[in-house]
Amino acid sequence: MNILFVCLGNICRSPMAEFILRDLCEKQNRKDVAVESAATSSYERGNPVYAPAREMLYAHGISCAGKTSRQVRSDDYARFDRIYAMDTKNLRDLKRIFNGDPENKVSLLMDVCKESRDVADPWYTGDFDTAYRDIEKACQALMKELSASY
Ligand code: 4NP
Repeated sequence: MNILFVCLGNICRSPMAEFILRDLCEKQNRKDVAVESAATSSYERGNPVYAPAREMLYAHGISCAGKTSRQVRSDDYARFDRIYAMDTKNLRDLKRIFNGDPENKVSLLMDVCKESRDVADPWYTGDFDTAYRDIEKACQALMKELSASY
């Protein structure tokens, strides 16, 4: 099972999701789940995880060392089984990049916990706590879903 998280810059929300889910997979010994994250934009290409996001992860005992921003490629559609967008604009951009979503792989992250809404975007609000809580809740719901179906 290959999972891709996507946001605009790949330095805040999607890396938090990537490393929170990796941590949960490690704790539950889910070696069959591979997780990555990427950006719809090239704005932050090659940059490390933004310090406040990195610090939030660190505070939860999670390292994101070595992660740098990369842009989504059209071949990611074939490489991943599920692709989660952090907000509705990312979702729209992804469907454009992938020329649609013929296999229904792309959805909003918060749909996983039956809340069809955006992850609170900390880039503009500075509120990394709320974003972290949203993402953690969705990743926990995702783990439940994975353990029920695989
Ligand atoms: P992210 O946050 O999409 O959660 O990584 C942002 C990072 C950079 C920008 C916007 C959002 N930016 O405009 O450069």
